[in-house]
Amino acid sequence: MGRFYALLYGCSLLLLASSFASADVVEKTFEVSTFSIERMCQQTTITAVNRSLPGPMLNVSEGDNVIVHVINNSPYEITIHWHGVHQQANSWADGPDYVTQCPIHIGNNYTYNFTVTGQEGTLW
Ligand SMILES: *[C@@H]1O[C@H](CO)[C@@H](O)[C@H](O)[C@H]1NC(C)=O
Ligand SMILES: *[C@@H]1O[C@H](CO)[C@@H](O)[C@H](O)[C@H]1NC(C)=O
Ligand SMILES: *[C@@H]1O[C@H](CO)[C@@H](O)[C@H](O)[C@H]1NC(C)=O
Ligand SMILES: *[C@@H]1O[C@H](CO)[C@@H](O)[C@H](O)[C@H]1NC(C)=O
Repeated sequence: MGRFYALLYGCSLLLLASSFASADVVEKTFEVSTFSIERMCQQTTITAVNRSLPGPMLNVSEGDNVIVHVINNSPYEITIHWHGVHQQANSWADGPDYVTQCPIHIGNNYTYNFTVTGQEGTLW
């Protein structure tokens, strides 16, 4: 099995344009693990956040600081890629393994820390 690129099933980031000037810290813990689900009458093994499909949603407003503590309890080395999120001045938080970070080893933790600016919409 090759490296697992953790575009984990169904995590989404909802970015809201906000007229409020106050920036919040949105801090979450994502536990990544592998488990069995039934789809189309077939058992299949998936890797997802918090044993949930779809995964958790982060609701973030302009200027918020996103802190996500990832606990890798899966049998793969993983990263989380924030698909579509502009990582302005924090490219190290973008997620692709061996490009902007080393993978999170099995049984290890990693904290993503980035600030969302100039974006709105629903991203994967
Ligand atoms: C995910 O699960 C962990 C416990 O493993 C919990 O602490 C955390 O709040 C959950 N995160 C979300 C976003 O639901
Ligand atoms: C996201 O948060 C905003 C501001 O706190 C709230 O108004 C909105 O209802 C939330 N949206 C969802 C989908 O939870
Ligand atoms: C990862 O985080 C969890 C929850 O905070 C903690 O119990 C565990 O010891 C941490 N593991 C490592 C390798 O730091
Ligand atoms: C996130 O990054 C900011 C800016 O570098 C830093 O001040 C803050 O302490 C970091 N937060 C965490 C939880 O690592």
